Amino acid sequence: MTHDISLTEQARDVLITNDRGSYTVPTAGLYPYQWNWDSAVAALGFAQFDVERAWVELETLFQGQWADGMVPHILFHKNDPGYFPGPEVWGCEGPIPSSGIIQPPIAATMAHLVWQRDPEMGRPRMAALYPKMVKWHSWIMRWRLHRGAVCTTHPWETGRDNAPDWDKTMARMDASDVGEYTRRDTSHVNAEDRPTKYDYDRYITLVQLGRRLNWDQAAMLAQSPFRVADPTMTFTTLRAARDLVKMGTALGEDTQTLEADVARLEAGAATLWNEELGGFDSRDVHSGEWAGCLSNASYLCWFAGVENRVMLTKLRSIMERVAYPVPSNDPDAETFDARRYWRGPTWAIVNMLIGLGLADMGHEEEATDLAKKTAHLIKEHGFAEYFDPFSGAAAGGGSFTWTAAVWLAWAGRA
Ligand code: GLC
Repeated sequence: MTHDISLTEQARDVLITNDRGSYTVPTAGLYPYQWNWDSAVAALGFAQFDVERAWVELETLFQGQWADGMVPHILFHKNDPGYFPGPEVWGCEGPIPSSGIIQPPIAATMAHLVWQRDPEMGRPRMAALYPKMVKWHSWIMRWRLHRGAVCTTHPWETGRDNAPDWDKTMARMDASDVGEYTRRDTSHVNAEDRPTKYDYDRYITLVQLGRRLNWDQAAMLAQSPFRVADPTMTFTTLRAARDLVKMGTALGEDTQTLEADVARLEAGAATLWNEELGGFDSRDVHSGEWAGCLSNASYLCWFAGVENRVMLTKLRSIMERVAYPVPSNDPDAETFDARRYWRGPTWAIVNMLIGLGLADMGHEEEATDLAKKTAHLIKEHGFAEYFDPFSGAAAGGGSFTWTAAVWLAWAGRA
C-alpha cells in the first residue's frame, strides 16, 4: 500500500477549506450549501483523519430531515445569492430551509464505514442516527417504488443531472411556462461543461410543479410527468438496506422489515435489466420505455450486491477503451460528450462506489485497477469535480470535496 503524503495533505486541506463548521460545501462558489450525497462522502473523507468531524457531518445532514422522513438533496443553511434555484424557489418547510427532493441514499453506507473506523466511540452516535436513517429508507420504500425498483422524480435526485437517461422523458415535457430565471452555475464555470438551457427549463419546471403541489408525494405521484426507475436510486437504496440490516443487527434492533426490503429491491433491480442493451438501464414508468443508456450507474450493481457477468465483461472492455474510466456515458453512444457533466465525463465518486462494490463481491483485480486509475487521474489533474475520460482534463469546479474524500478513503490507498 502506498500513500502519497503530499496529495493526502492537499486532500485534507480541500476538506478543511470547504468545511463550514458542521457541514461541508462541495466547492466554494458553485455549490455553497450542504448537498446530501456529497456530504455523506465528505463524512467518509473526514473519517480518515477526524472521526468526530465525520459524525458531525452526518448528524447535520439528518437535522434537515422532514417530519415524514425525507432527507433533502440540499440544505440551505445560510442564504447565498450566488446559487440558483435557492430556498425561495423551492418553497419548502422542513426544519432547515431545503430543496424538496432527495439524492442517492448513500448516507447509511457511508455511516456504516465511518462507524468501522472507531466502533466504540461511534456506537452512541450510530444508535442515535440509526432510527433516522431507517425512517428515510422507509420513506423511499413508501413513495418511490415501481415494481421494486426505485424511481427518481427529478433528474437532480439521481445526482446525474443531465444524463441521457432522462432525454426521452424530458422531450415529452412542456416547459413553455417556465418564465424568466437567471442561472448562476454558468457564471462560475465554463458553460460548455454544464447542462443546456433546454435541460434547465425542464429542471425548473419540475421544481415549480413540486412547489405547486406542496411537495405532497401522493399528488406528485399522480401528476408529475417525470418518474423514472433508475440504477442510481435502486442500487444505492438496495445497498443502504443491506447496510441498515448490518447496523441494526449490531445494535440489537429488529431488522425483519429491512430484510424484506432487501428482497423487494433485489427483484426491483432485476427489472432494470435491458436485454437488448445488455446492461442495467433506466425505464420511464409512465411510458414503459427504456432509456437505452449504459451509464456509470449501470456499474453500481456490485455496490448493491448484485452479481452480473455481462456487466463484468462490459466493465473490462470500458477499462481498456478509455484511459480514465468509468465514463458516465457509453463513448460509442450518439449522446456522448466527453466534457458535458453526466453525458460522458468520469466522476471519482461513482468510481469509488463501483470499486467498493467490486471489492465486496470478490473482483479484487478490477477493484484495484479502477482505484489505481482514479488515483492517477487525481494525481495528474487535481481534485476536480469531474474529468474528461480520454484526456483526463479537469472539468467543472475545482477543489472539490468529494474528489478529495475519494482520494483519502479509497483511491489514495490503492
Ligand atoms: C451537481 C451534481 C450532483 C452533486 C452536486 C453537488 O448537481 O450533478 O451529483 O451532488 O452537483 O456537487
